[in-house]
Amino acid sequence: MIAPSILSADFATLADEAAAVGDADWLHVDVMDNHFVPNLTIGLPVVQSLLKHTDIPMDCHLMIENPERWAPGYAEAGAYNVTFHAEATDNPVGVARDIRAAGARAGLSVKPGTPIEPYLEILREFDTLLIMSVEPGFGGQKFIPEVLPKVETVRRLVDAGELTVLVEIDGGINADTIEQAAEAGVDCFVAGSAVYSAEDPAAAVESLRRRAAAAARHLRI
Ligand code: DX5
Ligand code: ZN
Repeated sequence: MIAPSILSADFATLADEAAAVGDADWLHVDVMDNHFVPNLTIGLPVVQSLLKHTDIPMDCHLMIENPERWAPGYAEAGAYNVTFHAEATDNPVGVARDIRAAGARAGLSVKPGTPIEPYLEILREFDTLLIMSVEPGFGGQKFIPEVLPKVETVRRLVDAGELTVLVEIDGGINADTIEQAAEAGVDCFVAGSAVYSAEDPAAAVESLRRRAAAAARHLRI
């Protein structure tokens, strides 16, 4: 699955930018509060408006403090998946339950330096795990391959039937890096600059999808 990140799109024409990614699987929306990360993007009112203009399932990535307070609102608004950061709360299970109760899938995200082991036990409360492959806050950064062992760890547990979580990766994904992520076992690839800096964003989505599928196929042979 490919999830274009509108962080790299033109914020003045978001409805058109959502339409430009063709049959992307999810539309990734980065919510930043200038506290959890040193950048400020959009919040619930813009998400509510954009939801009226796209049928692509919306994947909200909350890089914010106090997700207890804010995350359920995105689920109530109609986001398909709502992901918050493990580093931002002492009660990730409570937040996940509130998101699910409000009608969305719940996602947990970890920064590049955050180990996954302390969270393995609670992953059964989540639908997605978003592994950051750059420091959260900005698009266009360089992929950090050192996070891939986290992908492999969770992939093994999913393949063994111990977890059912979808493994998503976010940051620095492009034609040069997507294959190694696919080989490690990623299910869903967020791509911002690689999609929106392309002349044809829909074609970029298709080409990334083909590369990932080919790498994953190679893995299974
Ligand atoms: C960064 C965001 C990403 C960002 C990825 O904090 O979470 O979703 O848009 O951008 P690229 O694909 O350009 O690294
Ligand atoms: Zn993101």
